[in-house]
Amino acid sequence: MTLIQARIEAAQGWIGFDAFMALALYTPGLGYYSGPSRKFGAGGDFVTAPELSPLFGACVAGQLAAWMQAAGTGHLVEFGAGTGQLASQVLNELERLGQPVTRYDIIELSGNLREQQADTLRALSPTQQGKVHWLDRLPDQLQAVVLANEVLDAMPVNLFHWDGGQLFERGVAWSESGPCWQDRPATSDFEALVRRSLTGAGHADLKDLPAPYVSEVHAQGQAWIRTLGGHLQAGAVLTLDYGFPAREYYHGQRDRGTLACHHRHQVGFDPFLQIGAQDLTAHVDFTAIDAAAGEAGLNLAGFCNQARFLMNNGLLERLAAQPIDAGLAYASQAQAVGRLLSEAEMGELFKAIAWVKAEDPAMRQALLDASHGFEPGGRLL
Ligand SMILES: C[S@@+](CC[C@H](N)C(=O)[O-])C[C@H]1O[C@@H](n2cnc3c(N)ncnc32)[C@H](O)[C@@H]1O
Repeated sequence: MTLIQARIEAAQGWIGFDAFMALALYTPGLGYYSGPSRKFGAGGDFVTAPELSPLFGACVAGQLAAWMQAAGTGHLVEFGAGTGQLASQVLNELERLGQPVTRYDIIELSGNLREQQADTLRALSPTQQGKVHWLDRLPDQLQAVVLANEVLDAMPVNLFHWDGGQLFERGVAWSESGPCWQDRPATSDFEALVRRSLTGAGHADLKDLPAPYVSEVHAQGQAWIRTLGGHLQAGAVLTLDYGFPAREYYHGQRDRGTLACHHRHQVGFDPFLQIGAQDLTAHVDFTAIDAAAGEAGLNLAGFCNQARFLMNNGLLERLAAQPIDAGLAYASQAQAVGRLLSEAEMGELFKAIAWVKAEDPAMRQALLDASHGFEPGGRLL
């Protein structure tokens, strides 16, 4: 709290919400993701797909293997690996498939989660463990397949407020009772960023929005995919996350945006409560992320809901192959698959999106053809 107050004072009394969110989530030792509390699973604050079932990672691995073959690479990079469950599931399934892995790099902001990942991965064979490395930054040039599950939603966002006549950036000031909202007239750069996102949603003008209207823009998420695309020489990027194409994201009725807080499986909407103890997250605007990806030379390979992606990667067949006489263990897998596929849970709100990159047209086509988790010619609606 003192740190946030000091930052606000040092910035003449106001910081953007992205700066507040970065402090609340990632300040070493104090931020939500950097602290020691349990975040994932039944005893934590929220559940992610790899925590629900290893069949999730097995499906993802099937898709990664196809791209690895098309790009002729054994190099995988995972961003934001959480507890390390997905890395473990992917490495096990690739071994079962006989798909060679030369390196599995993890890029993780939280030192505490890096330790948890190392703990989880100690269950792998020494040969597999030897392939895992933690990096602080992306190598300059990369021929690899890149994976990020629920990472974009954890990246800091900026907030805007349209009052019907003027556009503001909604940021954070300090009051007697602690942090509080404060709007500032949007700078021309910020207004351009908002207008770009709204154009993606088919809104020709800010006046198309009802007032008041508050929502987010994802400058950091866009910068992330631009940087990644710039470093990737050949390969593919798969990200799974909750969110919408821009038309749904900036729908007139979604006039309070998607910013949310998670604590002990309860959803809240006040980011100034329990700072550092609750997760802050915003849905992903896939249209804006795809536009930024395109600027970095990434070609959209597919976009669909998570249920379709997992079924295209054999989730139901994988469940059917589980030993049914395992009783409770089978029942818990079946229940997890239900949650992953259900429209009311993670099947529809969560999306899979992938891009490929290769200078060689034949390799690019092979990567697109290998995108079997998606329908051919997948488009953002
Ligand atoms: C919601 S968790 C998801 C964890 C894991 N992928 C899973 O599915 O269980 C978000 C993760 O992304 C990490 N993260 C957020 N921004 C990141 C960035 N720019 N680079 C690397 N990791 C990041 C967080 O520290 C955390 O591990």
